[in-house]
Amino acid sequence: MSINVKNNVFWVGKIDWELRKFHGDEYSTHRGSTYNSYLIKEEKTAIFDTVWAPFAEEYVRNLTKEIELNNIDYVIAPHAEIDHSGALPLLMSHIPDTPIYCTKNGVKSLKGHYHQDWNFNVVKTGDRLSLGQKELIFVEAPMLHWPDSMFCYLTGDNILFSNDAFGQHYASEYMFNDLVDQNELFNECIKYYANILTPFSPMVIKKIKEVLSFNLPLDIICTSHGIIWRDKPEQIVEKYLNWADNYQENQITIVYDTMWNGTRVMAEKIASGISDSDKEVTVKLFNLAKTDKNDVITEIFKSKAILVGSPTINKGILVSVAGILEEIKGLKFKNKKAAAFGCYGWSGESTKIISENLESAGFELVDNGIRVMWNPDNESITKCIEYGKKLAD
Ligand code: FEO
Repeated sequence: MSINVKNNVFWVGKIDWELRKFHGDEYSTHRGSTYNSYLIKEEKTAIFDTVWAPFAEEYVRNLTKEIELNNIDYVIAPHAEIDHSGALPLLMSHIPDTPIYCTKNGVKSLKGHYHQDWNFNVVKTGDRLSLGQKELIFVEAPMLHWPDSMFCYLTGDNILFSNDAFGQHYASEYMFNDLVDQNELFNECIKYYANILTPFSPMVIKKIKEVLSFNLPLDIICTSHGIIWRDKPEQIVEKYLNWADNYQENQITIVYDTMWNGTRVMAEKIASGISDSDKEVTVKLFNLAKTDKNDVITEIFKSKAILVGSPTINKGILVSVAGILEEIKGLKFKNKKAAAFGCYGWSGESTKIISENLESAGFELVDNGIRVMWNPDNESITKCIEYGKKLAD
């Protein structure tokens, strides 16, 4: 199956409806994903990206229905991660001498993955490749989100091939932003940004400003995952500039795990104190042991403050809480406040451990947190409510 994007540009990728986990088990994909490969058939023919390895045979088989493989003049490999390059070895086995255009780091990562000495052609920002009447202009985009990442711009059709940027893990038969459910689409976009791009936000802003400074007309953004932005493509660019700029909504998120419900009760009472004091703020609670971690991270991304709770166990904290703390440390959230809470029976280290982790992850601690010995009694419940009020104030 191919889909005409514009004039001689065709989508020749794979819609993966079944995918529920990406990056191993690291990223939940509730709505599947797509691996977008594009075929450009001008006087010269270029293929942009491939698909993930399990679909390599299907991809190459479908591609042969669109073009005689020997007629492909250029292979563009903007990113070596295997959801993009997985079908490259099979494709290249049919056309081993065809030049591959990628960044200097792209050569390293492609060689690192496949140990092949393909006909690599290194490109850098501003380099052009003629397809006849139209040209591809290359723009390096290091750390968006790998060192090898690269954008390409097709003159004449005014298409930006943005690779992972502006994408979403979102399977749809419709493939264009104006044809899909907007809530689903933007939920997947913000989840993708929060979980993958947050640490690279300074580079996101810099790269977008650089690309905008070229003053190139922009009609379409062809991402490597999810739908193609053909209706007001600038809307996702504006979202990225907003999300990259220490984004927050008027939301406080409480995440916790619990053994005998003491820490859960604390979470709920703190939440009710926050709501009592501030009727405007959105308060959300998530039990980390029962909630998808990528959805939790998306909510943390949207928050101005978070509370993290765990009972003390073996002088430590519960594994689900330790896991999310490790994750948010790497994501480098900025401009967010935080506090810890938890029940304990005798030693009671959990709030201290959580606070230290939050601080080292870059959160601004509100205080030393709140802890309750044994199960919360009426006095402790009142303290939790008051704590929530004080926090909201
Ligand atoms: Fe879509 Fe960085 O892989």
